[in-house]
Amino acid sequence: MSTGYGAPYVAEPQRPGWPARLGPLIVPAGTVRLRPLRLRDGGEWSRIRLRDHAYLERWEPTQPGSWRERNAVAAWPSQWATLRRLAKRGQCFPFAITVDDVFAGQLTIGNVIRAALRSAWIGYWVSSELAGGGVATAAVALATDHAFTEGRLHRLEATVRPENVASLRVLGKAGYRREGLFRRYLEVQGEWRDHLCYALTAEETGDGVVALLVASGGASMPEQR
Ligand SMILES: CC(C)(COP(=O)(O)OP(=O)(O)OC[C@H]1O[C@@H](n2cnc3c(N)ncnc32)[C@H](O)[C@@H]1OP(=O)(O)O)[C@@H](O)C(=O)NCCC(=O)NCCS
Repeated sequence: MSTGYGAPYVAEPQRPGWPARLGPLIVPAGTVRLRPLRLRDGGEWSRIRLRDHAYLERWEPTQPGSWRERNAVAAWPSQWATLRRLAKRGQCFPFAITVDDVFAGQLTIGNVIRAALRSAWIGYWVSSELAGGGVATAAVALATDHAFTEGRLHRLEATVRPENVASLRVLGKAGYRREGLFRRYLEVQGEWRDHLCYALTAEETGDGVVALLVASGGASMPEQR
């Protein structure tokens, strides 16, 4: 039995890799960048999430209150402040995804644990208007490379419902490996749902996930155009 991870829950005095601005990376939908979430993202965040209720809710954890209440503009300041507080403690990297400099979704690296574990989960959503345009894959590639370099993490994990074909494809394109099935793992729409676990460790990424994506033709750098 392990003796533990070396006090992994003790907040470190520094927060390597945060704040950060990542990109640009060009994909069919436009130019993708990641930057810290802002208080003034609330209007676009709410507009997209209220419109995309059906598109998003079946993959997101159950939370108290109705979708309309939780995703109203008025709900944003407290969500933003919570994420900002966690980021300041080094426990989370809360990114906005932008396409052509317009807010288009979120990518969060959360539950950052350091010491001898140096691990976190990665989660994301993208506006349905941009579906299939390569945005999520570019965002995951940028964030993964950052987490393993400036962020000094060693392992990232993503858990996905087996029915979420688009997200499974994103992880596959970004080089994540399937590790197993977590049974009745997360409460989604009021039921405990199975999730597939995908993961990637720093030494598996070679020259980086962005380089892999660019080499496969899934994205390009501005200077390559
Ligand atoms: C999952 C999600 C982030 C993907 O965003 P995106 O910007 O459309 O992703 P990309 O364009 O980078 O890649 C999507 C891939 O899935 C494929 N895809 C999408 N729907 C599909 C379907 N029903 N069947 C097969 N492939 C599908 C796309 O064709 C694309 O693959 P390709 O490049 O080989 O053609 C977006 O659908 C979303 O926000 N969903 C709701 C929230 C969510 O599921 N978050 C993840 C939770 S684990």
